[in-house]
Amino acid sequence: MATEHTELIKIHKPLTDDQLFFAANVLRNGGLVAFPTETVYGLGANAYDEAAVAAIFEAKGRPSDNPLIVHVPSPDKIEALTTGSLDQAKMLMSAYSPGPLTVVLRRSKLVPDIVTAGLDTVAIRIPAHDTALRLLKLTDVPVAAPSANRSGRPSPTRAAHVYEDLAGLIPCIIDDGACSYGLESTVLDLTGKKPVILRPGAITADQIEAVIGIRPILAVGLTDDEQTPRAPGMKYRHYAPNANVLIAYGDKSEDRARQINKLVAECLHEATQAQISGNIRIGLFSSRKTREMIRLDNITSVNFAASTDVKDLNYSDKLEIIFFDYASEPRADAAASELFLALREFDEIDVDMIIAEALPEEGMGLAYMNRLTKAAGGGEAPKLRAGGNK
Ligand code: TXA
Ligand code: MG
Repeated sequence: MATEHTELIKIHKPLTDDQLFFAANVLRNGGLVAFPTETVYGLGANAYDEAAVAAIFEAKGRPSDNPLIVHVPSPDKIEALTTGSLDQAKMLMSAYSPGPLTVVLRRSKLVPDIVTAGLDTVAIRIPAHDTALRLLKLTDVPVAAPSANRSGRPSPTRAAHVYEDLAGLIPCIIDDGACSYGLESTVLDLTGKKPVILRPGAITADQIEAVIGIRPILAVGLTDDEQTPRAPGMKYRHYAPNANVLIAYGDKSEDRARQINKLVAECLHEATQAQISGNIRIGLFSSRKTREMIRLDNITSVNFAASTDVKDLNYSDKLEIIFFDYASEPRADAAASELFLALREFDEIDVDMIIAEALPEEGMGLAYMNRLTKAAGGGEAPKLRAGGNK
C-alpha cells in the first residue's frame, strides 16, 4: 500500500458539520477514516465499496476471514442490510442503541462478501458518540469499521494510539479525545435458536435478558464441542503487548496483592536462572488499594515508580516495578477503560513482564477478564521477554 499523509482532524466543540465534511468526503470517495466511538476508535470504510473495505484489511494486516461490524446512525438503516426477523433486534436496539451493543443478523444481498468474510450474517452497531453519529449521517452510507489498531495490538482508546499503529497507512484520523468505555462492544448473535454473546462488553447478559426475556448463552464459556464457528474473531491472539502478561487472581485485594508478590518473586527467579544481568522491569496494572497491600519483604533492591515517573528512575537497581493505578479501588469499569492504554504504555517503556489484577467476572468485569486473558494468551509461568536487559 502506498504510504500517504495522514490528516489529523482535531474536533472542537461545539461540533460543526464543516469539521467532519473532509472526513465524510474521504469515506464517500473510497478512503479510510479512523473515528472515535464510545468503546474504542474504529477504522471506517464505505461498507458498499469492496475496494475500500479491502483497504481496511490491508491497513490493519487483518486476516480476511474475520468479518467487520457495519455502523449506522439509526435503526431505520438496518432493514436494508438484513433479512429475516428483526423483532428481538428492534427491542434491544430501542433499549440499548445507540450504545455498546452489536447485533448479528441475517444479511441482505446489499452487504458485500468481503464485509462479512463470506458469512451469511452481518454485525451491526449504532455507536453512542456524537462525533461518530454526525460522521455517519453526513457520509450517508453504512460504514464497516473494525477497531483502528494493527491486527493483534490492543484496541485504540485514543487518537494517538491510532496514529502509532496506522500513520502513513490511512488518510484521516478524527481526534475526539479518549473513549469512555475503553473496551469493544458486546457482540450478540441473534441468528441461532438461542441468542449467543460472542464477545462480552458493557451490555451484559442480564440487560439482554431483561429486554427479550431469554438469557443469552455466553460463547466464551462454551466447550469446544458446543462452540459454533460463529465468532471468527475470537480465535485470534488479541490485545498482545510485547511483554508477557500474567494475571494476579484472588478474591480480595489482599489475596491478589499476595499473588502479585509471588509472581514478582518468580519473575526474579526466572531472571536469575536465565542469567539475565541487567535490570528487570515489571509493569503492574492494578488498583491503588491492591498495590498498597503488596509486601515485597522477600525481595531486596526493588524500585517502585508510577508509570508516569519512569524517566526519573535510577537504573542501578535489580528490579523496577512500574505501576499503573487504574483507580483507587478495584473497579471493573475503571480497569476496563484503562487496560488498553496501560498495555500500550508498558510497551513504550519496554517492560519485561506485565502483571495485571484480576477482578470478579460480573458486569463489566466479564469483558475486562475476557480481554485480559486474551492479552495473557493463556500464559501461566513467568516468561521474560526475549532480551530482558535494559
Ligand atoms: O466496539 C466495537 O465493537 C468496535 C467499534 C469500532 O465499533 N469495533 C470492533 O470491531 O471491535 P472488531 O472488528 O475489532 O471486532 C468485531 C468482532 C470480531 O470478533 C468479529 O469476528 C465479530 O465482531 N463479527 C463481525 N461480524 C460478525 C458476524 N457476521 N458474525 C459473527 N461475528 C462477527
Ligand atoms: Mg478489533
